[in-house]
Amino acid sequence: MSGTRGKFNSRIGFILAAAGSAVGLGNIWGFPTQAAENGGAAFVVMYLLLAFCLAYPAFMAELIIGRHGQANAVESLKKISTNNVQRKFAFVVGFGGILCAGLLMSFYAIVAGWMVAFTIEPITTVVGADSASTWLTTHGTQRNLLFTLIFTALTIFIISRGVENGIERWSKRLMPALVVLLVSLAIYVLTLEGATDGLKAYLIPDTSRLLEPELIVSALGQAFFSLSLGTSVIIIYGSYVGKNENLVSLGASVTLIDVFIAFLAGLLIVPAMYVAQAQGVEIFRDGVLLSGDTLVLTVLPALFDTMGNGGIIVSFAFFLLLSIASLTSSISMLEAPVSYTVERFGVGRNKATLIMGAIIFTVSCIIIFNFSSLFGFVISLTTEYGQPIIGMLCCIFVGWIWQRSSLLNELKNGNEQIEYSLFWKIWPWYTKLVCPVAIALVFINSL
Ligand code: PHE
Repeated sequence: MSGTRGKFNSRIGFILAAAGSAVGLGNIWGFPTQAAENGGAAFVVMYLLLAFCLAYPAFMAELIIGRHGQANAVESLKKISTNNVQRKFAFVVGFGGILCAGLLMSFYAIVAGWMVAFTIEPITTVVGADSASTWLTTHGTQRNLLFTLIFTALTIFIISRGVENGIERWSKRLMPALVVLLVSLAIYVLTLEGATDGLKAYLIPDTSRLLEPELIVSALGQAFFSLSLGTSVIIIYGSYVGKNENLVSLGASVTLIDVFIAFLAGLLIVPAMYVAQAQGVEIFRDGVLLSGDTLVLTVLPALFDTMGNGGIIVSFAFFLLLSIASLTSSISMLEAPVSYTVERFGVGRNKATLIMGAIIFTVSCIIIFNFSSLFGFVISLTTEYGQPIIGMLCCIFVGWIWQRSSLLNELKNGNEQIEYSLFWKIWPWYTKLVCPVAIALVFINSL
């Protein structure tokens, strides 16, 4: 590793940073609402299955590519290529991932901006600035521009500080705060009337829905999004991990934390929906559950309103939670293009961060000005197409292009005993054969 390259200083620093990337709007917003829309517990069961059987092996593939390459995604993939065609393919996959991360951030920052606006709203309500409260919670170009800018600036600030002082330090501060907030809110909501119905919907599976193709496709997409796969983000975080670390257990820890937090968020959101219903708030229209953003931006605030003064604190805590989770994810998205620019073009980190941040913010602005045509399009382009395809190609790299002996040697770094483990026996061929085929099948099905 060159002297100027950053590195995670501690094992826990890496785990919290990677879990910070993984845990985001996908867990706290996406997972519970998708579970609610797709038959509750049946979705939860399928999600758990796919997260561990497909997303975790793919996560390991990206992590090990990065740790071996000790460089940005393009360089890391090139290092395992042995001829020119493979190197070109490495560029396409690595650069595609970086592009995907940048595009993802351009819409993610808009949604995260809403979370910041909704966090401030309880404060303007307390001080009696009612018109400000209305402005903050009403969909509008000016509000969207301002809060996307604020959120992007926060992300730029952290990334410009580098790996240890930026990503690691802030993940260590923000992630524990997030868990405390989430657990406290879930405990509170579970004490309210109506929560038990929500708990039943969330935990008792309707097995007849388990194999519905739509449910399976949504669950896989959700698992890939949640583990930040197919965006080169995990490759780059892997490249900041030392050769003496046990990758298998690091990857498992991050996957477990990610799945656990999604599950916990479900314990908060799904019962909260039913509590809202018990308070007279509409959560179904024509028998169909209100869609994602209505749920988080209308139903839950309506529930908080019914709670009187306490609701103001709960609302503040809830949206602060979502803002924090978004920030630890967006820093990983920005790190992908920044690390590439720094290493490929020799640009200083501050400058690279500003340039990339400005480009991404410009794309966000274009989306904001053409919201109805571009917002949904960019989301589906990145999460439904980009992520699964690039994630699958990374598995192909590990399974088919990387020389087996070199791959096994890399796995042994930091884990001499691995030869005797189940992971060693299963994962290499599983990543080679099962993962690409399964991902491709689910993807084709989704078309
Ligand atoms: N995993 C993040 C979430 O759940 C989103 C993300 C996707 C972050 C891709 C980085 C890269 O919200």
